[in-house]
Amino acid sequence: MEKLRIEGGRTLAGEVAIGGAKNAALPALAATLLTDGEVTLTNVPAVRDVDTTCRLLEQLGVEVSRPAPGVVVTRGQGPTGSEAAYDLVKTMRASFLVLGPLLARTGRARVSLPGGCAIGARPVDRHLAAMEALGAKLELHDGYVEATCDRLCGAEIAFDVPTVGGTENCMMAATLARGSTTLRNSAREPEIVDLAELLITLGAKIEGAGTDTITIEGVDELGGGSHAIIPDRIEAGTYLVAGALLGDDLTLTHCVTEHLQTVVDRVAATGVQIDASADRLTIRRAELHPVDVRTQPYPGFPTDMQAQFMLLMTQAAGSAVIRETVFENRFMHVPELHRMGADITIDGRNAVVRGPTALSSAHVMATDLRASASLVLAGLIAEGETVIDRLYHLDRGYENLEAKLAAVGAHVERFRE
Ligand code: EPZ
Repeated sequence: MEKLRIEGGRTLAGEVAIGGAKNAALPALAATLLTDGEVTLTNVPAVRDVDTTCRLLEQLGVEVSRPAPGVVVTRGQGPTGSEAAYDLVKTMRASFLVLGPLLARTGRARVSLPGGCAIGARPVDRHLAAMEALGAKLELHDGYVEATCDRLCGAEIAFDVPTVGGTENCMMAATLARGSTTLRNSAREPEIVDLAELLITLGAKIEGAGTDTITIEGVDELGGGSHAIIPDRIEAGTYLVAGALLGDDLTLTHCVTEHLQTVVDRVAATGVQIDASADRLTIRRAELHPVDVRTQPYPGFPTDMQAQFMLLMTQAAGSAVIRETVFENRFMHVPELHRMGADITIDGRNAVVRGPTALSSAHVMATDLRASASLVLAGLIAEGETVIDRLYHLDRGYENLEAKLAAVGAHVERFRE
């Protein structure tokens, strides 16, 4: 079992290059099911979820090659398969994003329901309702969605609450539907805009991505093309928090500052110094003031930064309230932070964080991707040596995390036990 060993208290200085966004790469890979053309994706992060999705595409009959670091080239031969099996979907909810493309391309799909995960039940009811609105016939058997359709028909679809994956599944399915589709109350994340740009490159007709209303005019088929995945705003936010804790001019490069503006604003409000340009962020630590945050769909404060910001607030002088409005169980990092001495009280969807608290090193266990990131940040500031177990959670979404941190002064190493 691989683990991380972190010696706390080291100042971080120098440059960290931000990689491609996991949450843009996964839907982009699913979108390649929509075409027989050759699709070249660049700036693809080397993370486990990308490997898993490439395996899923190959199972579905897509030819996948990875000719160079960060590059994935796919070529469809008309997806021979139409089944996303439970053994893959259970490890990665994003596998469910093949539902829309498979239906649009082949008229059938058998996709395992993702089931719950550490951060909540995470149902897919909104995905399913939208597929039915587009004309699919759905049946649920043995934990699988079995969907069939002749050709999908464009429709008016309104989400009661924004859903990133639901918006992505619909947008992809609608590109090959007959007629036009309007998605209302659609998610507005940068990853939605990135997916739309890829689909438009392949020949799709989409307008409004990034707003709460997206219109898609169906076409008969899509072609090939190349697309660079946007930088990962959550990876950038994670290193921004590391800089707020230990930075002595820690600079993030290759990011899109606009994509994490609310994170930059809230971290700056704590009193740290942030010099920001369009694609670079330099941060220097300072005495921290407590700042309340409430997670919300984009452009609000991202739920994927909640655990990291909560850790930051353990070092602020006073108390801060962190409210998680997107997922019903996303405080899994709190018991582990308690073991390191953090003063955090959970009250329903609120966590009250009191500081500053000197954290002490411990052996801790990762539970989900972003909780494990907050444990790494805790290890960077804790006195002594912290060991983090179950690294596979971290490896799902952070590329070369220990190498990037070590390059700017952290004492962190991966070892097998
Ligand atoms: C995406 O998940 C991201 N994953 C998540 O990042 C992110 O936390 C989330 O969006 C919110 O920003 C990827 O992009 C691969 P949702 P997704 O559908 O699409 C409920 C990470 O750490 N819901 O916007 O699954 C759902 O339970 C991951 O990188 C329904 O009830 O999120 C949740 O409470 C974690 N029914 C809320 O909506 C549905 O049909 C938002 O979910 C769909 C969602």
